[in-house]
Parts: sequence; C-alpha cells; structure tokens
Amino acid sequence: SSDLITGGAPLSTKKVGEHLLFSLTRNHGVRTLNEIRTEAGKHMASQRIPLVAGNWKMNFDHLEATYFVQQLAWKLRDIHFDYRHCEIALMPSFTSLRSVQVLVESDNLKIHYGAQAVSVTSQGAFTGDVSADMIAHLGCSYVIVGHSERRKYHPEDDANIVDQVRAVLAAGMQPILCVGESYEERRKGIELDFAVGQVHDVTRDLSDEEASRLIVAYEPIWAIGSGMVATPQSAQDAAKAIRDDLAETFGTHVGESVRILYGGSVSSKNAEELIGEPDVDGFLIGGAALNVDELTRICQLTMNATV
Ligand code: 13P
Repeated sequence: SSDLITGGAPLSTKKVGEHLLFSLTRNHGVRTLNEIRTEAGKHMASQRIPLVAGNWKMNFDHLEATYFVQQLAWKLRDIHFDYRHCEIALMPSFTSLRSVQVLVESDNLKIHYGAQAVSVTSQGAFTGDVSADMIAHLGCSYVIVGHSERRKYHPEDDANIVDQVRAVLAAGMQPILCVGESYEERRKGIELDFAVGQVHDVTRDLSDEEASRLIVAYEPIWAIGSGMVATPQSAQDAAKAIRDDLAETFGTHVGESVRILYGGSVSSKNAEELIGEPDVDGFLIGGAALNVDELTRICQLTMNATV
C-alpha cells in the first residue's frame, strides 16, 4: 500500500523529524505513513512549546485585568497546570500592563503578557503612540502586530507592519504577526496563497535570526468573533503552507522553530481538535479569553495534547 513504508525506506519528511523517524522504523519495523506523521508531529510540536495567547482587545480596565490574571493563576494551580508543556500569554490594554506586571512579579506567576500594538518610532512627537521600549520595560514578552482589526481601523499597511515587527524585535520582544484571508479570498480559493503572501511580504527582509523569533497567528478574518471556526484541516493546511514558505526563505531550522498559532472563534469545544494538528502550535484567542473558566479549559486541553 502507498500508505506503508518499511524500515529501509528513504525518508522525505522534514529534517527535525528524521531522527525520530529513523528510530521508529528501527524499533518497530513497518509502520504506516500516517502513524509516523502523527508521531513526528508530536515530536515537532514538543520542540515548539505551544502558546495559548489571549488577545483581550479593548476589554477590561486595570482592576478587571488584575482580578482575571489572579483568578487564572489560581485555577491553573488547582488543575496542576504544567507551564513547561504550554506557555500562556495575555495581551491586555496598554492601561493594564503595569498592573499585570506588578501582580505577575509579586506573585511570581509563570504567565507571560504583552501588548496589542506598537509605534514604529522610538520616541518623539507622536501623540497617543507607545514605543516598543516602553512596552519592553514593562516586562512584556510579546506584541501583536498586524491584527486584522488594526489593519481595518488604523492605517497599517505592509510597510508599517514591517516596521512594527522590526521595532518589537529590536526591543527584545517577539512579534505575533497576524495574517489571514477574508471571506472573499476564501470564496476564490486563494486563501493559502494570500496568508503565505502576507507573511512573506512582511518578513522577507529579516535576518534568519530575526525570523526565528517570530510567531505567526493565522487568523482568517471570517472566523474572528463569528463563531465560525476553521476546520482543523484548513488550519493545518495554512500553518503548513506558512511554515514551508518560512523554511524556504530562511532555512529549515527557522521553519521548524517558528510557532504558528490559529485564531478565530477558538473555544474549549474546538481547541483539542485544532491543537492535534502537527503544525498548529497554539492559539490566539479573543472572546474565549475573556472567560476565565473557558480559558483555563483551553490551556488544559492544549497542555494535555503535548504531554
Ligand atoms: P475570537 O476568538 O473572538 O474569534 O477573536 C480572535 C482574535 O481576533 C484574536 O486575536
């Protein structure tokens, strides 16, 4: 059967999986390609620690934000959550970052946090903007860049998004670069090319080292806040296409190390299936990240998928 390979068969699968594939074939003789793909997927996923990131958008003032983080930390402790197998990050409003920082530092929490946008300039007469250094000095690990809501409501074109990515990297943080098609591109069947093109256009001039610090969030616009979630297969197809393009541009090492998240109506009902896909390394969550029980459950499902 074409689904079957033998211990001596040449391996065309990705580099990072090779070692595992060799040992599997040695130890177990004949295995189906699907079995190997599953195992290799788990192996690759375990090298990329999954990330559950909550994008709070314009919700929660600093008191509500602090209360939420405290509740989340307690609930995760109650379920013996293992942060080594799943990273958690929250993206509050700018006005809550300092309060979240104080709580995280004083209680020594393992929850990370970041901002939802950043200025492309470092300082000066830019009323209302916040620089990457200001964000970094608040202990932020991440900044969301190019979210579709920012692209829609603010004049953020590709050139501006490139500069945001550079600003975030230069300040020592990781950008979470959001891409994804609208309903229109999906209807035309060009969704993969569209998402890959968005990543490519923004990242192509980065160095390999800079590219390796990227996180990409594939968030189809039609799925955001709509209750319509991408199927696990189409999330996987997009993540894989983006990963392959990164590998082609920056080398296999970068392709295999960049985490690719799925976003768009993620909930505890669909998280388990989505995280089961080999190239989906976590989530960028809007609505469900505003409910502490729901977010705890998604974190738990994500962690369980990797241990
Ligand atoms: P929802 O999870 O509410 O669909 O939002 C997704 C999103 O935009 C995260 O950035």
